[in-house]
Amino acid sequence: MSQDLVIDIKNVTAAYGTLTALNGVSLSVQKGEIFGLLGPNGAGKSTLLACVEGLHTPSQGEVQVCGNNVQSDPMAAKKRLGIQLQRTALLDDLTVAELVEVYAALYEVFLTKAQIDDLLKRFDLLEKRNTLARRLSGGQQQRLSLAVAIANDPEIVLLDEPTSALDPHARRAVWNEIRTLHDEGRTIVLTTHAMEEAEALCGRIAIIDGGEIVACDTPNALIASLNLNATLKATVELPLEQVYDLPHVNGARYSGQHLEVETSKPEETLSALQALAAKSGRSIRDVMLRQPNLEDVFLKLTGRQLSEIG
Ligand SMILES: Nc1ncnc2c1ncn2[C@@H]1O[C@H](COP(=O)(O)OP(=O)(O)OP(=O)(O)O)[C@@H](O)[C@H]1O
Ligand SMILES: [Mg+2]
Repeated sequence: MSQDLVIDIKNVTAAYGTLTALNGVSLSVQKGEIFGLLGPNGAGKSTLLACVEGLHTPSQGEVQVCGNNVQSDPMAAKKRLGIQLQRTALLDDLTVAELVEVYAALYEVFLTKAQIDDLLKRFDLLEKRNTLARRLSGGQQQRLSLAVAIANDPEIVLLDEPTSALDPHARRAVWNEIRTLHDEGRTIVLTTHAMEEAEALCGRIAIIDGGEIVACDTPNALIASLNLNATLKATVELPLEQVYDLPHVNGARYSGQHLEVETSKPEETLSALQALAAKSGRSIRDVMLRQPNLEDVFLKLTGRQLSEIG
């Protein structure tokens, strides 16, 4: 096993009774990555993390964490991991400070009061240290679950939908916190069904659908590999058949007054469109270019739209 390989998942199949949640999944995560598992509800993201965490036993295949087999040596593997579960079953009747202490102790890490306070301060929870966890707001609970996830100072942090149900401001604050965890040298694996989150945070992404990895690469490579079209939008009146004939155009339509043109070379198509408009005596306004994104990748690979399923 390469020294930089911190998570190695080999041909993992996982089931709940007769339901196959993961079907022959293989992937590896290198030290220092922010790795994203992107997929719709029910794709198998949480199940895959549970297999890495030793909380679900695969029916086939093997998972190693830093060279430790999760099934045969679960504690050795767990000690390297910090875990944020999707539905955090935080023990409601403990205070914020007690929770951090208890979770660290589960990993045989015994924190001093000063260490606990430092951790709570970092997540803006120091004032809540004596508050019961169940009295926290949703956003505060999500921050607490992040604090709990790193209470044992782990090398690898597994975050299951770390920003679900957060408002845009709180979501960005958590993104920054994740970047800080990464800057500290930790490896991060997170799940999301928000492609903008995956694009904003992740160096590499595995797209997971129906329990299988359908693609795995950097966001740019995923987008580039599929020769996806960019979309040019402009307010202009031109016959569609003339627009179709412009170079590199693969599709054109009107959406209200807005012309939408799919093109593999947007700059060249735009110049040709401007020339056509000038020749036809038409003005061209509100030009916008949308480059292909992970949403388009998902659509191309699965035939469905990620945002419509999630
Ligand atoms: N404890 C369980 N018992 C039975 N089936 C389960 C259980 N947990 C998950 N499943 C099923 O396994 C499949 C994968 O679920 P999983 O929770 O891994 O998906 P997910 O990608 O995390 O979805 P989400 O985005 O909704 O969190 C789904 O069909 C789900 O219904
Ligand atoms: Mg899940």
